[in-house]
Amino acid sequence: MNALVERLGRDRFLPVAVLDTPGDAVPLVEGLAAGGLGLVEVTLRSAAGLPGLALVAGRTDVLVGAGTVLTVAQVDAVVAAGAAYVVTPGFSPAVVERCLELGVPVLPGVATPGEVMAALALGLDTVKLFPARELGGPAMVDALRGPFPGLRVVPSGGITRDVAPDYLRRPGVLAVSGSWVTPRGPVSAEAVRQAARATVAHLSAGVD
Ligand code: 3PG
Repeated sequence: MNALVERLGRDRFLPVAVLDTPGDAVPLVEGLAAGGLGLVEVTLRSAAGLPGLALVAGRTDVLVGAGTVLTVAQVDAVVAAGAAYVVTPGFSPAVVERCLELGVPVLPGVATPGEVMAALALGLDTVKLFPARELGGPAMVDALRGPFPGLRVVPSGGITRDVAPDYLRRPGVLAVSGSWVTPRGPVSAEAVRQAARATVAHLSAGVD
């Protein structure tokens, strides 16, 4: 089991962040760690993403990965910056193959059974389901469970703290991902800590 899957299984939540400045990565990660969360996906959706990721990569209390990775060149760039794992919004065999070559854990997005089959063909058993709300939400997770009983999914897109337990209670859901703990804008470590702590409490109460 890779470090990403292990941490997802523990936290059951992958925070997704869009940074406005690289320096925001520091209070972001400090707040997540203090609030009891051990993962963050720093996206390449803003110019601050890659340098911000490089500032906090290499921590072990919070595993810092790269998100919105669309190309092979971006895989190389985020791995050079120290990303512990790669997340993609959609399924690109070339991106997945590059991650496998480099030995970096990858969580590729899928939206259809065909994309699940393509992921399985490359030897993966864990995928991100995106955009989960628009694909049908928890009902889509249930529908995929029939043909793919061994698949582990991480639904993402339009998930709030309140609906997260409904996904997490379903067999096959390893974790959910979302941006509610790490909203865009100036980052306060204390605000992130409080949101992280509230999420940890809500998810454990809602799922057990
Ligand atoms: C993602 O990339 O997984 C999503 O943008 C996170 O979804 P959310 O912003 O709707 O929570």
